[in-house]
Amino acid sequence: MRTLDQLEANGKSVLVRVDYNVPIKDGVVGDDTRVRASLPTIRELLEKGAKVVLMSHLGRPKGVDPAFSLLPVAEVLADLLEMPVKFVTGLPSSEEAFSDVKSAKPGEVLLLENVRFEPGEKKNDPELAKKYARLGDAFVLDAFGSAHREHASVVGVARILPSYAGRLMEREVKALGKLLHDPQKPYWVVLGGAKVSDKIGIIKSLLPKVEGMLIGGAMAFTFIKAIGGQVGGSLVEDDKLELAAGLLEEARSLGKQLLLPSDVVAAEQICSEAETKIFPAFGIPEGWLGLDIGPESRKIFAEALAPAHTVFWNGPMGVFETPPFDAGTLAVAEAIAGLDAYTVVGGGDSVSAVKRLGYADKFSHVSTGGGASLEFLEKGTLPGIEVLGGLSPEEV
Ligand code: 3PG
Repeated sequence: MRTLDQLEANGKSVLVRVDYNVPIKDGVVGDDTRVRASLPTIRELLEKGAKVVLMSHLGRPKGVDPAFSLLPVAEVLADLLEMPVKFVTGLPSSEEAFSDVKSAKPGEVLLLENVRFEPGEKKNDPELAKKYARLGDAFVLDAFGSAHREHASVVGVARILPSYAGRLMEREVKALGKLLHDPQKPYWVVLGGAKVSDKIGIIKSLLPKVEGMLIGGAMAFTFIKAIGGQVGGSLVEDDKLELAAGLLEEARSLGKQLLLPSDVVAAEQICSEAETKIFPAFGIPEGWLGLDIGPESRKIFAEALAPAHTVFWNGPMGVFETPPFDAGTLAVAEAIAGLDAYTVVGGGDSVSAVKRLGYADKFSHVSTGGGASLEFLEKGTLPGIEVLGGLSPEEV
């Protein structure tokens, strides 16, 4: 990829696509990790004498919606940079935004409003990409978390302006790239989250490369039901039962382990105060919902991971946002953090678990990308990588 090393930024307006899709509640940013992760690129461009014009999406708004404004992020960014950040309120494609950017000087930082307020953003509308391109002399893609999206602010504008990878993008591609080529064996993958459908691609593509996979979260129930288990009222994708059974068969024929939980923590409703019981994962009574992996599963998962030299983890083991159903996810974070191995974690809840335990520095790499890291490992590349001079999977 072309990187900042190749960019002569002095005196230029540099349009930087960052991923500031951060949790915001009542106007307050809940986790500033992604904002902090963008600082090295911004600081380097400022040091080189550029005007820095930042753009990002936030959430999945349907049109212009003040609840999805990036204004609270501009405030956090200004605090972190210890300098003013001009928040551009007009739509990024508007004449107002154009004139705000034009009148700013090198050494200044601007943040544009949510690009998903633009109807053409997700459609990668070429006319919109042209309007974005008016805002910079060069484009830097530093939004690793969005590099799997073929959107106007990611790939559309990169096809028009001279384009470069930012420092975060580089760091992510290097760290995740290590998992693609000759990862030290045994290599284990831990997957969680609600849906098997989100993980089919990664399971299929990683199965041949790994020793085994640990499956937690609600997606485990689709596998368990597919092979005759009683899952009570647990979340199941009934239209994916055949597919789940097929994946188990594929693992068996490759001689790979696909470990499912043996027990679960269940309740009659998703609520912190609800009474909880432990049931065998294959025998959950009617009316009960499996909401976390149980104590025996945590132990079995930790034992399976113990000999690993490489681990990739994405997705929570239970309903992480509702304690006590966060305990399984925290136990997995603990088990991986204690390994002497190359360990990578990606995805909102799994990363939150690692941070809550204060273990971020015990992982080799904490990715800012959830979906992006999965797609990168599955396909070996991403649209946002291809557009920056293209790396074939072998080159990563
Ligand atoms: C993420 O949080 O995974 C990225 O910011 C991408 O967001 P999206 O799934 O709404 O495109």
